[in-house]
Amino acid sequence: MIPIARPQMGEEEKAGVWEAMASGSLAQGPRVRAFEEAFAAFIGVRHAVAASSGTTALHLALLGHEIGTGDEVVTVPFTFIASANSIIYTGARPVLVDVRESDFTMDPDLVEAAITPRSRAIMPVSLYGQPADMFALADIAERHGLALVEDAAQAHGAAIGDRRSGTWGIGAFSFYPTKNMTTGEGGMLTTDDADLAERVRLLREHGMKVRYHHDVVGYNFRMTDLAAAIGLAQLPKLPGYNDRRRAIAARYDAELRGVITPSVRPGITHVYHQYTIRVRQRDAFAERLRELGVGSAIYYPIPVHRQKPFVALGYASQQFPVTERLTEQVLSIPVHPSLTDDEVATVIGAVNEAAAALGPLEPEAARR
Ligand SMILES: Cc1ncc(COP(=O)(O)O)c(C=O)c1O
Repeated sequence: MIPIARPQMGEEEKAGVWEAMASGSLAQGPRVRAFEEAFAAFIGVRHAVAASSGTTALHLALLGHEIGTGDEVVTVPFTFIASANSIIYTGARPVLVDVRESDFTMDPDLVEAAITPRSRAIMPVSLYGQPADMFALADIAERHGLALVEDAAQAHGAAIGDRRSGTWGIGAFSFYPTKNMTTGEGGMLTTDDADLAERVRLLREHGMKVRYHHDVVGYNFRMTDLAAAIGLAQLPKLPGYNDRRRAIAARYDAELRGVITPSVRPGITHVYHQYTIRVRQRDAFAERLRELGVGSAIYYPIPVHRQKPFVALGYASQQFPVTERLTEQVLSIPVHPSLTDDEVATVIGAVNEAAAALGPLEPEAARR
């Protein structure tokens, strides 16, 4: 079975972890600092702050803006639950707006109607490796005096023109094993705002600048040096990994039939954390792929407003027609960089065979 993800660990990662272990620096130490500097340089920001996960990075980003009870944060229902959970952790309320059919990301045209006097931030999600419409969203955030927190958990190296995800407001990345690069578990915040970076550093470590002097109630959201050692070995490989993902995606774009392939806005560098197609009869489609030796996955089968803890927000499904449609139709197929050309051909053959057997999904039918 060709798996939907296959994390890559090489000799460099092993050597880095052994060195960290031998050095005795196991928790947050010099490797975390070095990883932060290398990641900031890669993204193109002045400051990067490592965290224990993408989720804690998002939580810290909101806390760094002093968002809390009584506040609102605008985000999307078509995302991994961590985006919305991070808002709940602060005591704030997630206000949901639908995504665009074309690229699965926050529809800027819907944002202004969702802004209230309690709004404090906009949290778009750069889903599947395609940046959200950050220029348009940054403009809205600025006009309304709101913070901009990009959930860039899936967008390491993605860009609009020559500007990378993570360079607007504050960006939050995840290094979970299936991501475009990994540290096992881990996260990173990126920003040009020195004060914001300073605040999130403080909050990451129990509000402590001077040992055992606590200025605010903080958290232990630190990354370990063991994880950072893996990150330092992975980061130089990321551009090559992303190139391979894009090359595989280009073959899929050219050779898949009878399914809706992802569309990419002009000027975008998509890093294909997922290659997500839209299909007819999705369960049968996924089952057919499995029979043909191809793994697939649904990201995500239930949108935020229908997840149990979020039902109380009181949203109706009709409020998010695009999200509901995508939730029924999306299917991600393997696009990870270790796929061989033969495996890519197997995936193409399997998808085309399943689409031929189950009937094509045309863009018009997709809208019904
Ligand atoms: C869109 C999105 N946001 C947030 C996260 C949270 O990251 P982590 O799993 O590292 O906590 C993830 C990762 O799974 C994600 O895909």
